[in-house]
Amino acid sequence: MASTVPDPVTRRAPADANALAAAVWPQGAHRDADGRLVVGGADASALAARFGTPLYVVDEAGVRARAVEAKAAFDRAAAAVGTDVTVYYAGKAFLSGAVVRWMTEAGLAIDVCTGGELAVALAAGADPARIGFHGNNKSADEIERAVAAGVGTIILDSEAEIARVADAAANAGRVQRVRLRVNSGVHASTHEFLATAHEDQKFGVPLGRAVELGTRIRSYASLDLLGLHCHIGSQIFDAAGFAESAERLLAAHAELARIAPLPELNLGGGLGIAYTEDDDPAPIDELAERIAQRVAETSAALGVPVPKLAFELGRAIIGRAGITLYTVGTVKPVPIDGGVRTYVSVDGGMSDNARTALYGAAYSARVASRTSDAPPALVRVAGRHCESGDIVVDQEYLPADVAPGDLLAVAATGAYCWSLSSNYNHTPRPAVVAVRDGDARVIVRGETEADLLARDLGLEASDAVAAPVRGETA
Ligand code: LLP
Repeated sequence: MASTVPDPVTRRAPADANALAAAVWPQGAHRDADGRLVVGGADASALAARFGTPLYVVDEAGVRARAVEAKAAFDRAAAAVGTDVTVYYAGKAFLSGAVVRWMTEAGLAIDVCTGGELAVALAAGADPARIGFHGNNKSADEIERAVAAGVGTIILDSEAEIARVADAAANAGRVQRVRLRVNSGVHASTHEFLATAHEDQKFGVPLGRAVELGTRIRSYASLDLLGLHCHIGSQIFDAAGFAESAERLLAAHAELARIAPLPELNLGGGLGIAYTEDDDPAPIDELAERIAQRVAETSAALGVPVPKLAFELGRAIIGRAGITLYTVGTVKPVPIDGGVRTYVSVDGGMSDNARTALYGAAYSARVASRTSDAPPALVRVAGRHCESGDIVVDQEYLPADVAPGDLLAVAATGAYCWSLSSNYNHTPRPAVVAVRDGDARVIVRGETEADLLARDLGLEASDAVAAPVRGETA
């Protein structure tokens, strides 16, 4: 198979299209003597044979280690400036009962943003006092449930929510701890940040109103204002945007802190990971240190105590630990202007990974079932959905002999893949399997066609449809 495509080619041709870039694949991922990909001690081909494809695979030890590493990095950075820090795991990246337990055991608190995520966290035994509840349009029911459950903090996202949460807390006879989400005007992504007076997005209240609304929150006996919050974006590689945003928030924080104690500052999440070997996020301890330093310097300049810090990390905790396994179905050379593009179609797609279609995200892929001496060829990995935009990996070099039946692994799919998955084209969602020390267990059962048909009440015998069960039960 020869493949030539016109510019722009954004990926560099690797010397070896079998190589696993160290920062991209789960820690310890390697090939065994037969060239098969091994993750968490488990052979990817055996996982595919046992559970079917597509399949999400999570390296449990990798997630746990990363959670511990992140917490330790922020703990050290906070201690160095004489404060402490709460590290939340942002459940939107991927939430399940097992993940809640891994995070809790690593000492992380849990950040949720819907009643559904709250229900998972509570059902998995998370301490309600260590749950933060987000959302720019929480329903009355969600607010009541959160208050009744005793969640540690509710992040107020709008002026309207102040009275809503105050009333719900008063009705429940509670004092609810809250944060106020502020739009700092800083938006960051990967290498750059943009700092403006106003940012055009739906979250939070304008920075210019933080003091007024913070003061209003304090006027309610049923609310306890813990501090300000902001979240500046996602997949950010360096500290500059966080530091700028912290500085902006601290001006309002200081005004509020001069009136009454304001213990905390929450700087959200957004730390990036490497999806390809070209991505080079700063190490987490370096980021934590630079952010904490800037908070300390700014606090000193403003004459206020260094606040306790909080962060909410999703992708940086779980992104790298996940891979997705697919089976190659077709390999199709497509003549295009100036060359040929090779489409490698797999048995999943935008229903299990929407990020390429949604954000133009880049991914790395490798043939997982074997190695090959064939030269690297530039391909596009496409899904099986009825959409030309159904691309899993826009550009990747695979061995030129990639063929139907090969098992393909896509790296760094631990965050925002399962959680953004859909049933598009009546596709059942794949199972999620955790691997550890060579053992594999299903942590989220895959859907079956029977699951999908059972909810269609227009069918004659919606619960009587026979379909194979995908993914063993836990
Ligand atoms: N805190 C808040 C308030 C957030 O809105 C988010 C993510 C996080 C924390 C966690 O961000 P992380 O550390 O995972 O970057 N679906 C997109 C990302 C959306 C992020 C939304 N908010 C993607 O797949 O790239």
